[in-house]
Amino acid sequence: MQPQYSRTNPFPAKMVINRRLNEGNRNKETRHHEISLAGSGLTFEPGDSMAVYATNDPPLVEEIIRALGATGDEMVPAGKNETAPLRQALLRNYAITVPTPKFLKAIVERASAAPLLKELLQPDHKHDLQVYLWGMEVIDFLLQHPSAKFKPDEFVGLLTKLQPRLYSVASSLRVYPESVHLIVDVIRYESHGRIRKGVASTFLAERCDDQPVPVFPSVAKHFRLPENDADIIMVGPGTGIAPFRAFLQERRAVGARGRNWLFFGAQHEKYDYSYGDEFEELKKQNFLTHLHCAFSRDKEHKVYVQHRMQENAAELWRWLDGGAYFYVCGDALKMAKDVDAALRTASHLKKQTFTSSR
Ligand SMILES: Cc1cc2nc3c(=O)[nH]c(=O)nc-3n(C[C@H](O)[C@H](O)[C@H](O)COP(=O)(O)OP(=O)(O)OC[C@H]3O[C@@H](n4cnc5c(N)ncnc54)[C@H](O)[C@@H]3O)c2cc1C
Ligand SMILES: NC(=O)c1ccc[n+]([C@@H]2O[C@H](COP(=O)([O-])OP(=O)(O)OC[C@H]3O[C@@H](n4cnc5c(N)ncnc54)[C@H](OP(=O)(O)O)[C@@H]3O)[C@@H](O)[C@H]2O)c1
Repeated sequence: MQPQYSRTNPFPAKMVINRRLNEGNRNKETRHHEISLAGSGLTFEPGDSMAVYATNDPPLVEEIIRALGATGDEMVPAGKNETAPLRQALLRNYAITVPTPKFLKAIVERASAAPLLKELLQPDHKHDLQVYLWGMEVIDFLLQHPSAKFKPDEFVGLLTKLQPRLYSVASSLRVYPESVHLIVDVIRYESHGRIRKGVASTFLAERCDDQPVPVFPSVAKHFRLPENDADIIMVGPGTGIAPFRAFLQERRAVGARGRNWLFFGAQHEKYDYSYGDEFEELKKQNFLTHLHCAFSRDKEHKVYVQHRMQENAAELWRWLDGGAYFYVCGDALKMAKDVDAALRTASHLKKQTFTSSR
């Protein structure tokens, strides 16, 4: 009998393809992953995400164990009514990068001197604390304050649970019935003289070729394709393109008659137009009625997706007025707001819009 997979029992999937998309771009690393779901019975719809249950970076785990003066074999709490050796718990169960307020407070209480941190933990220094903590991780505090001693079980009691990360599905099961494609920006940056790694994006990039990728679909009921005859406008800069690659595959597979319009944005055409061949082919076949790209770092001035929208405002307005569905996906902090403003300027109309962003 097949095991029932769930959020608490994710499917141990197999990484089949793990390929860098933007070789040559020195500012960022984006990867295409194809993960086999064969035998899982798992399904998803375009618009959904895949939750990836990553494990932490082993060298960082070892460094923390050393800093604690532990062996890694000490038994510690590891989830509800469970215990595990410290090494395993730090790999699988706990978030070990971002320091929690409880952990910071314990450092102040136990370190022989941590006056700056003590000051910053006062309620009226919230903003300064945030600035100070940017790019600082748990390991930094352990190394900076060796006088703060923790027993292994005390230490894990100051951490929070390691959470899965969501990635938009970038393929349709109608076209790839046994797998899911993901498009992932790998988080790596340097701070305080150390290379830092995003947990899940580097797990997918570096640590899954010879170990399972635990996954489970996360449903996004509010981010769905409309009926086949409806027109759709998709705005997906960067990895925000992921759900729209799935949308296009799905619409083509079901023979949807509605028109499709894609706005894509990236830094450089040469390095970052990763699915350019697919999109240009769809455009040639007139399946994509319009394809507008904005490469922000190819010219002296920035060109963003909303500029392309503004250049095509009259046509955009006609589509919206005719009932087209509008989708935007990607950075919620700035891009989605700027796109929304451009849309409102173009249409002056209240239409049904969908966003999917962080
Ligand atoms: C519904 C949904 C869908 C998503 N789909 C995708 C997708 O298709 N593709 C994709 O790539 N992402 C997607 N994301 C984002 C993804 O879930 C993760 O948040 C992202 O990959 C980072 O996870 P991580 O574990 O690698 O990094 P984490 O370990 O979570 O670290 C990220 C953190 O590192 C810190 N940080 C990052 N850069 C710096 C810096 N330069 N200086 C200091 N600190 C820094 C920030 O605090 C940041 O929050 C999606 C998110 C949601 C909610
Ligand atoms: N379903 C979801 O919720 C979902 C799915 C996928 C991704 N995401 C999230 O979306 C974000 C995408 O980031 P990314 O790193 O892939 O993108 P990115 O490469 O940083 O940016 C893509 C393009 O957008 C441009 N841009 C920057 N600011 C903009 C603005 N205000 N308006 C319009 N365009 C702007 C960038 O230009 P410059 O850099 O040259 O300024 C670049 O050309 C990530 O945070 C990811 O986690 C969410």
